[in-house]
Amino acid sequence: MFFFNLSIKLILIEMSTKPTIIITGGAGFIGSHTCIELANDFELIVIDNLYNSSQQSIDKVQKLINQKIIFYQEDLLNLNKIDSIFEKHQPEAVIHFAGLKAVGESIQKPLFYYQNNLNSTLSLLEVMKKYQCYNLIFSSSATVYGSQQSPLREDMDIGQGVTNPYGQTKFMIEIILKDVCISDSRWRIISLRYFNPVGAHPSGLIGENPNDIPNNLMPFILKVAINNNTSVHLGDQFNQLKIFGSDYSTQDGTCERDFIHVVDLAKGHLAALQKIDQLSGYHVFNLGTGKPISVLEMVKTFERVNQVLVPYQLSDRRPGDLEVCFCDPQHTKDILKWETEKRLEDMCLDAWKFQKLNPRGF
Ligand code: UD1
Repeated sequence: MFFFNLSIKLILIEMSTKPTIIITGGAGFIGSHTCIELANDFELIVIDNLYNSSQQSIDKVQKLINQKIIFYQEDLLNLNKIDSIFEKHQPEAVIHFAGLKAVGESIQKPLFYYQNNLNSTLSLLEVMKKYQCYNLIFSSSATVYGSQQSPLREDMDIGQGVTNPYGQTKFMIEIILKDVCISDSRWRIISLRYFNPVGAHPSGLIGENPNDIPNNLMPFILKVAINNNTSVHLGDQFNQLKIFGSDYSTQDGTCERDFIHVVDLAKGHLAALQKIDQLSGYHVFNLGTGKPISVLEMVKTFERVNQVLVPYQLSDRRPGDLEVCFCDPQHTKDILKWETEKRLEDMCLDAWKFQKLNPRGF
């Protein structure tokens, strides 16, 4: 097979004809970190419409890897253009990150989310088929498990109790991918179900860079920390963090999540690529630590390791939130030989380093 026999791979690398990979959404938070982890072994082609990301992250990744990335600012819905990119580069595999991901916005604009996330994936699959590129890694989410009890395992049913259109698109795409694999045995598709990615590259050069007011916990903590511990003021809405719910049946009353360092998560994609030729058909893997961390524990750890204050207020529960969500990482360990290496402290230290260097984002 094309890249996965180690000796062949090494010869290919020596001849500097590394296998080519297309990374959709490669300028985003997880995509950019994944580019770094893949750069040694693959020729990287990024397609990103920069809807929620910036050319600067591509520039910074190139600096970090000291290597060129071929970048197309293009929308996956532009079929003719995507076709010509595939024709030109004849990729061996695709990692598909591109997609809209804001939960609240997806409730306001369901058609936009269904239209964009589903159609772009369908177009991508058509083009891959045309150019006989049958290897795909898809960024799925823990959200597909709905409200089932943790620890969440890959063999559980999915799709029940998904509370928003964003989550539905992840679920629907998983169903589509499974059907595509059933239809033709040449396909090899892996869905990686992410738990809660946080942190940043240890260089501080790239990290999560939301365009508007963040909904997720870590980006909000970071902005509150900037307001309260530096001379930069990002607006009064970031004077303090609201902790959504303190009366859950958990150890300290706040929700618990499986936070995973984005660099560990990125390495999970490399592990999946290295294995994909041995796994025909459709496969699913959790990417998480398997260890629940409470919201309050996250805030306290952030304050302690970074020696900063993060003022917070205990508030009402946020509608749609799960009490506890964490994975069973055993299947991923067994098959992909991957497990997380970074600690909660690293997530907090690296995220803060990025935020201090880029207090207003980039
Ligand atoms: C959310 C999405 C999930 C998506 C994931 C992407 C919901 C219901 N789920 O997961 O579909 O895949 O983001 O990372 O939106 N919190 C606060 N204060 C804040 C922000 C968050 O207390 O200002 C709490 C939340 O109540 C939750 C925890 O922090 O208990 C984590 O929240 P968040 O980062 O938004 O992630 P999830 O809700 O787990």
